[in-house]
Amino acid sequence: MGTSVPDHILTNKDLETLLDTSDEWISTRTGIKQRRVYPRGKDRPAWELGSQAARKALEKAKLTPDLIDGVICATFTPDYFFPSTACKIADSVGIRDAFAFDISAACAGFVYGLAIAHAMIGNGRYRRILLVGAEVISKTLNWQDRSTAILFGDGAGAVIVDAAPDNSQGLLSSWLSSDGALGDILQFPAWGDNRRMTMKGSEVFKHAVRMMSEATVRVVREAGYTLEDVDLLIPHQANMRILNSIADNLSFPTRKVISNLVNYGNTSSASIPLALEHAWETGRIVPGALVAFTSLGGGLAVGSALVRF
Ligand code: ACO
Repeated sequence: MGTSVPDHILTNKDLETLLDTSDEWISTRTGIKQRRVYPRGKDRPAWELGSQAARKALEKAKLTPDLIDGVICATFTPDYFFPSTACKIADSVGIRDAFAFDISAACAGFVYGLAIAHAMIGNGRYRRILLVGAEVISKTLNWQDRSTAILFGDGAGAVIVDAAPDNSQGLLSSWLSSDGALGDILQFPAWGDNRRMTMKGSEVFKHAVRMMSEATVRVVREAGYTLEDVDLLIPHQANMRILNSIADNLSFPTRKVISNLVNYGNTSSASIPLALEHAWETGRIVPGALVAFTSLGGGLAVGSALVRF
């Protein structure tokens, strides 16, 4: 795995100078203290961040680009409808003769990508897939809207999904679902003047807790385990109160819930790989660890996965 974030740190204190808000309000309502963003007017494309993360992943895995059979990128901040961000990443990293496509599942994109990569490898046609979540959200935000501007950060994370030697390891179960009837509570139009993300915060909160909890229970049960067997839960890093409410709902110990949103905010499809790398580098993932991932994004799209490391 590999990650990349912009150098620039935007703190809650900095936001106090831009918006009618306070460090205290943001910290207590979200758990976020700072986020990485490109300074205004100096943004870079999401594929560039994604490529940086991908190069690091390849380096750590000691793999050369020719060994990658395909690239999947989850993003809601592509620079183009086409070429896809995945095609741009493949080209930048030097991956040739490989499929490349983007998926649109907002903050659930990484888990959707994991399930897709697993299925493509599982049917025997492909061996190694580069999965990237890459977002430059800062350039899409309305910096006058305090309800959304405080939540998000930019970042990218990449993993290489490889065929496991046997079925006891790797992705044990996954579950993807959606509820399009709730599409209007979190949306970002593709066309029109003054396009901006809009969000009904408390509605999103409520459904995020419910749907991510249900999805977690489902993947754990379908793999033949109970929540007590799960060593770590790595949820989409939306908001500390959402994470705590999921733990509460599941009677799952909060010490086993990975969170790094205090430093990065919500980075959408990049949030799980960023949290995964944080867990890995802090020694929280040991060989044999059973790790559940759960995510929810605009759509609403929901996805969970259970992985044996
Ligand atoms: N600073 C100060 N005050 C604020 C701010 C802010 N940044 N934003 C809103 N307020 C005010 C509101 O105007 C309101 O004031 P009022 O009582 O005078 O009307 C008050 O604070 C309470 O507003 P609510 O919207 O009810 O606050 P809430 O407790 O619901 O918290 C929040 C808002 C943090 C957005 C919460 O609803 C939330 O986390 N929702 C989930 C949203 C989310 O995570 N979205 C990310 C995308 S989806 C995903 O990743 C799953």
